[in-house]
Amino acid sequence: MQIIHTVQALRDALKAQPKIAFVPTMGNLHAGHLHLVQIAQQHATCVVVSIFVNPLQFGANEDLANYPRTLTADCEKLEQAGVDFVFVPTVHELYPDFDGVDLHQSMTVQPPSIASDLCGATRPGHFMGVATVVLKLLNIVQPHVAVFGQKDYQQLFIIQSMVRQFNLSIDIVSGETVRESNGLAMSSRNGYLSFAEKAQAVELVRTLQEVVTAIQAGSHDYPELETKAIQQLTALGWQVDYVSIRSAKTLLPAQINDKDLVVLGAAKLGKTRLIDNIQFCAKSLK
Ligand code: PAJ
Repeated sequence: MQIIHTVQALRDALKAQPKIAFVPTMGNLHAGHLHLVQIAQQHATCVVVSIFVNPLQFGANEDLANYPRTLTADCEKLEQAGVDFVFVPTVHELYPDFDGVDLHQSMTVQPPSIASDLCGATRPGHFMGVATVVLKLLNIVQPHVAVFGQKDYQQLFIIQSMVRQFNLSIDIVSGETVRESNGLAMSSRNGYLSFAEKAQAVELVRTLQEVVTAIQAGSHDYPELETKAIQQLTALGWQVDYVSIRSAKTLLPAQINDKDLVVLGAAKLGKTRLIDNIQFCAKSLK
């Protein structure tokens, strides 16, 4: 496995590769990331993983400075997983015009309006930062396939939309959310949780699961189900950003006739903001 820090060196190394699959990450790798690597390996002869904590997707009061950086351990995991190349650029390498003060001077991607909804409502500019860095990375790696997790459903949706709208010749493949044995979605941010919070964190997916169960049992008052779920999490001590039932195809609020649904939630437990979602197909409507 080769660890590469510059765009030019990566381009040179990848020149001879006939089929490349790419997994972008911010590091602090866990089984969820490694699942995406396995999917990538099924699609290509050469797998590239990037590790880059992208400052452009963090808000001013977010956890950029504290985001866990564990490069040595990450590279060991990737080597064991059989990854071919790890791309670890610096901020200056990816943002050559960055003057050290304001990244927002850079050229950026303007994502569709759905980027201001759900997570975008409390994280303005987040998906602009994600879309911009992913476009840069796709241009650098020029993979045939890029793999993203369903855990970040809105991110996956926006990236699929970007690839379609910018006519990129890349297949976006998604990987299912990998969970702890109790159901908690694996996340680099789980490391912020105290022991007690980690046990409690599963309440988020359990609440989303209850919404799914209620819909499958015939409840169609989606706003009421959302309100109930929010109240339930709040009573358990969470600070809820949203629980929302959406069309899995458009990410717009679900209509009664929509069958492919996704229920998404984002909430803070103590200082840690967690997100999760469950995709499902609604049983025949009465
Ligand atoms: P990061 O949070 O490191 O996630 C990298 C990829 O792993 C994303 O596609 C994410 O959806 C996926 N992932 C995270 N947890 C997962 C889990 N439990 N199961 C399956 N997949 C999981 O998402 C980002 O980084 C960044 O926004 C990035 C796309 C790299 C752009 O900076």
